[in-house]
Amino acid sequence: MVGKLFLLFGLVAVVSATVKLQEVFSWNVLDWNYPDEYQKQQALQSGALIRENALPVGIERWRNKLFVSVPRWFPGIPATLNYIPLDGPYDPSPKLTPYPSFKGNQLGDCENGLTTVYRIKADKCDRLWVLDVGTYGYDPNVTNVCPYALNVYDLHTDQRIRRYVFRPEDIVPSTFIANIALDEGRTCDDTFAYFSDELGYGLIAYSWEQNKSWRFSHSYFMPDPLVGDFNIAGLNFQWGAEGIFGISAGPMGADGFRTLYFSPITSFTEFSVSTKILRDESKVKGSYHDFNVVGIRGPDTHTTAKVMDSTGVQLFALIDQNAIGCWNTELPLKPQNVGVVDKDDVDLIFPCDVKIDDNRNVWVISDRMSTFLESQLNYGEINFRIFVAPFEKLTEGTVCQSTASAVKAPKLFPNYAPQTQFFNPPHLESVSQIPSHIFLPATSSKTLTSPFNSFSSKSVFPKATTSWKISKQPSQPYYFSSLQSHTTTPNPWWLQNNY
Ligand SMILES: *[C@@H]1O[C@H](CO)[C@@H](O)[C@H](O)[C@H]1NC(C)=O
Ligand SMILES: *[C@@H]1O[C@H](CO)[C@@H](O)[C@H](O)[C@H]1NC(C)=O
Repeated sequence: MVGKLFLLFGLVAVVSATVKLQEVFSWNVLDWNYPDEYQKQQALQSGALIRENALPVGIERWRNKLFVSVPRWFPGIPATLNYIPLDGPYDPSPKLTPYPSFKGNQLGDCENGLTTVYRIKADKCDRLWVLDVGTYGYDPNVTNVCPYALNVYDLHTDQRIRRYVFRPEDIVPSTFIANIALDEGRTCDDTFAYFSDELGYGLIAYSWEQNKSWRFSHSYFMPDPLVGDFNIAGLNFQWGAEGIFGISAGPMGADGFRTLYFSPITSFTEFSVSTKILRDESKVKGSYHDFNVVGIRGPDTHTTAKVMDSTGVQLFALIDQNAIGCWNTELPLKPQNVGVVDKDDVDLIFPCDVKIDDNRNVWVISDRMSTFLESQLNYGEINFRIFVAPFEKLTEGTVCQSTASAVKAPKLFPNYAPQTQFFNPPHLESVSQIPSHIFLPATSSKTLTSPFNSFSSKSVFPKATTSWKISKQPSQPYYFSSLQSHTTTPNPWWLQNNY
């Protein structure tokens, strides 16, 4: 037994430097699948494909597809919406496949094609919600080739089932919309989508049933002028104008409505509003006091993407800290209740999107966006990484894992079983044989300390790890060697128990 544990320990020691997040895909530079080599060569020669201009920014997992969006900030992006098949042979640096097709990604074909897509969201009704912002280029060279249009796809047929062009009143001259949140009601028709206008400081609501949109304005959508200075991966830059960005809808409340949480990028404050307000077009006026200040995350907590689990735990990208943070909505939002679920100063530089799939796996993409935009990427090293971890594993031992939600979760998710295959080599009968500290190896290591420790006078949860040990390790994920030795197992763990 001891020997087996040492073996496991040895395996864990070569896992990527993130502790809980397992790296599944990584790239120095992106590439695309073409129907044949001739077309690929043509694309390279004509400049239709310039690999160094591609930065992946958004992800979403639906069954056997992992969607990846790539904005057309620079020339040579053959498709802005793409996917990676999760059921094919494993490739650690897979080429992207356009979704639904190359034709459906034609730059400037406003009626039929997508021009630039940032974040995407799949819903319970197997629809993929995609906002085409219609822009080509990057500040100050941006052209509005097409209008802002919501495109919704049927994921079973890969057909677009709706295109809705935002009303002129939804848009202001400075509008920049990257994020989308869904508010799923009791039926598929009863679905609302919300879009945050980062630079126009607005929140746009869209009703699927009414096929109609409206726009809210509020001073809470604006940046905090005191926190516009950023330090990421050794770069200092100022993003003083970035307003409302990360948005996520919480679980349905007793009144039948959800709470939409939001924060500007340039802010450490979290705000909220009930979807009861957002769903009601008449509330566009006179709803100032329906928007709430939730609390303050703490210093160095600029955040881009956020997502809320159905148990009310929010995960969010912490771009200053190369980390993913968490907050359990059962606790007041203040620095000592904010946890760091994983952090790495190389692998998690600019965590750009975070999503939770139907199997309660958390997906994270890091892309060094600040280096890409403000300086230059080194294509001799890994720049883009996609990670995955079971939600329970990720929040385990943090301040976000409250006793209440730990008890509640199995009831809400009767089909959910922790996915442990890769933590559980075949010669160990069950994961419970392995002491949990094995998952957090404490070999050499630096101590990872929450920046909020200093604020924490006394914690509600004395066991919560605001600090733990991690070790710096090579970035080869160990479990793929175990995957390769099980080539007869077609489904990696994040695909199991799936429909
Ligand atoms: C904007 O476009 C012009 C013309 O294509 C180019 O010369 C210039 O370098 C671009 N500027 C930036 C900041 O990309
Ligand atoms: C929804 O509205 C758009 C206008 O942007 C229109 O083109 C489309 O036909 C409408 N779809 C439905 C299903 O009503």
